[in-house]
Amino acid sequence: MPSKVVRVLAIETSCDETAVSILRVQEAVGKPLQVSVLQHLVSSQVPIHQKYGGVVPEVAARSHVPETVSLLTQALGKQGMKAFDVIAVTRGPGLPTALSVGVEAARTLAWTSGKPLVAVNHLEGHVASAWLDGRRRRFWRYPLLALIVSGGHTELVMVEGLGEYRLIGQTRDDAAGEAFDKAAKLMGLPYPGGPQIAKRALVGNKRAFDLPRPMRHDGSYDFSFSGLKTAVRYTWDELKATNKCSEQATNDLAASVQEAIVEILVEKTVAAAKHEKVKGVLLVGGVSANQVLRKRLGAALKKQLPGVAYLPSMRAYITDNAAMIAAAGYWRYSLNDFTPWEELDITPEWNIGV
Ligand code: KG4
Ligand code: ZN
Repeated sequence: MPSKVVRVLAIETSCDETAVSILRVQEAVGKPLQVSVLQHLVSSQVPIHQKYGGVVPEVAARSHVPETVSLLTQALGKQGMKAFDVIAVTRGPGLPTALSVGVEAARTLAWTSGKPLVAVNHLEGHVASAWLDGRRRRFWRYPLLALIVSGGHTELVMVEGLGEYRLIGQTRDDAAGEAFDKAAKLMGLPYPGGPQIAKRALVGNKRAFDLPRPMRHDGSYDFSFSGLKTAVRYTWDELKATNKCSEQATNDLAASVQEAIVEILVEKTVAAAKHEKVKGVLLVGGVSANQVLRKRLGAALKKQLPGVAYLPSMRAYITDNAAMIAAAGYWRYSLNDFTPWEELDITPEWNIGV
């Protein structure tokens, strides 16, 4: 039986992670695809940005330059340009100067190697991160609903076919990850705040503080998290003013913040999944590393929509990485969606499904 192998080299530099990956996909008529991640290199700038309490775009861009070269050298190894067939790169959304580093590297590689280039939307990359789970890939049946929760985005996106998206809900202000990060910062916890809040929430009381759940009953699939940040600020100031900022109070507030975010995400996702009669629900993006969110969404689907497949992305591909960009790059390759290197530019503001 004839089979074809496609190796996608991917570069991701949209925010504060430099990442390079090589994905091998074997296509054979009448057989499921065989997908393997050959290289999965991620260099995080978190320690660099930690001292500023958040990502500094100029610092991020400058750090991407040597890291991109270093990871590419490592990934390509002795094979050099023979190690891949297609180049994929994140074109947007993201920080303009950071995106430029990956895009220029990809253009240079495409020019010198003569191999085709595909431009990838970072959010489609997050969606594709769930597809990298080989065990769950066989449950992919359209239409699917994707909850994309990251530091910059909170979106409910219908995935109606390969590369076919329809945005049905999004945040009107802060993203869920941003809400975690901002709450943590207000409480004096280091960046990024999501994992810090999650760790403290393990030993906190989620009912200790009554925090708002904006837009809970408005019938839309939109979110709003800026009110939560304000409520955390008042609560924290009050605790400080009354000398009650104990470790336990911090843990309790962390647990209450996490509960407010998780509850609204789960409720709206399940409601949208019911309304759209989807066959599966994807949970992707940095915030999907949150164990409580993962468990609660899984449990809610099992109880309320037992026939619907639950497809969270695998741990290794949750936070920004290039394996997910390679997977989305393979989709773009399958759709013949190539971009000549001469025409490729960054697209810092670029949503999917609108
Ligand atoms: O997808 P990602 O790596 O980068 C963006 O594209 O934004 O997401 C990063 C976000 C940060 O806001 C971080 O605080 C959050 O994901 N995050 C978490 C957890 N791990 C990372 N939020 C909640 N709980 C976690 N365990
Ligand atoms: Zn991301």
